[in-house]
Amino acid sequence: MSNVVLVTGAGGWLGGLLAKAIHEDPLTPDVKLILADIADVRAPPGSNSICLKVDLTDPPQVDALFQTEFGIPDTVYCMHGIMSRGSEDHFDFGVKINVDSVRSLIESTRLYGTTRSPIKFMFTSSLAVYGGSLPDIITSSTIATPEGSYGFGKLTSELFINEYTRRGFIDGRILRLPTIVVRPGPPSNATSAFLSGILREPLQGIEATCPIGNSFDAPELALRAWLASPETTIKNLVHAKHVSSAKFLAHTRVVCLPGFTASVRDELEALIDVAGPEALKLVKFKDDPVNRRIVSSWPAVFDNTYALSLGFVVDQGGMVPIVRKFQKDLLS
Ligand SMILES: NC(=O)c1ccc[n+]([C@@H]2O[C@H](COP(=O)([O-])OP(=O)(O)OC[C@H]3O[C@@H](n4cnc5c(N)ncnc54)[C@H](O)[C@@H]3O)[C@@H](O)[C@H]2O)c1
Repeated sequence: MSNVVLVTGAGGWLGGLLAKAIHEDPLTPDVKLILADIADVRAPPGSNSICLKVDLTDPPQVDALFQTEFGIPDTVYCMHGIMSRGSEDHFDFGVKINVDSVRSLIESTRLYGTTRSPIKFMFTSSLAVYGGSLPDIITSSTIATPEGSYGFGKLTSELFINEYTRRGFIDGRILRLPTIVVRPGPPSNATSAFLSGILREPLQGIEATCPIGNSFDAPELALRAWLASPETTIKNLVHAKHVSSAKFLAHTRVVCLPGFTASVRDELEALIDVAGPEALKLVKFKDDPVNRRIVSSWPAVFDNTYALSLGFVVDQGGMVPIVRKFQKDLLS
């Protein structure tokens, strides 16, 4: 079987890491990668890749991704998008990218697949689909009622993927990602970006703004988040492709990827543990009620049982090993 994998958003952070991981995946030998983004894309060194600069809001450009010299992909990773604060502040633009362009990618995936062998369609969704009054622990059957435009966009696309999978048009796998820390590079326009920034910047001797609470002692710092490391998330994204379709629940392809709970204070304590109290002095507190409202509406405790039963993995040891690993990467 020829292994051809299309990754959209391949110029982004997770898309780039994923392309490298698929290239190195022993279960996907001799893989050919079609890497698409509106921004520049860099192919993993040594990989057999085509890098394409495309605007995925334009359906003919989406369709062209299925007509390259590599042939029709057997797997599509739909990783492009605009993040939470971006879609909240620019509603129409957010719908165009997080809903309309995803739908056109789903349509092309349907068109080029066959009912006997539907193309796998992997979608990176988010815990932002949840909102309102929630149980203490989220399970795979908790109803999603988003309180922000980003979650609305993700949930809308999820409904298409589930329905198209039920009809046999595609073989969808919807992965609701925890918030991933520590994200390297410049801050993203995600509402949750500070969850990485308050660690990443101080570890490099740079000031960071914490939009939750006005001091280290503020009660708002008890705000909890559902987190995963980049390494674990990428392992799980690669694994998702290898899960047999028979193993998923019959009525939904949604999987909440495993994560762990940490408060903003837990993060800052891990920073002190790894880099000392001087690092904390670089965190400037400036409460932002909009940011706090959105992040507070996201659930912070999930039941990992279903995801683990499918073979996905979870970080061990909480925040400290993740902060330590990020610091080690900075020094290497
Ligand atoms: N990073 C996280 O913590 C997290 C959490 C939950 C879900 N996700 C989801 O994972 C995916 C990847 O996230 P990321 O952190 O790598 O984001 P990112 O912003 O680094 O990458 C997104 C990429 O999408 C591309 N893109 C946007 N509009 C496009 C268009 N019209 N045409 C072509 N490409 C376009 C951007 O250029 C960018 O390179 C996204 O779908 C995101 O919603 C991320």
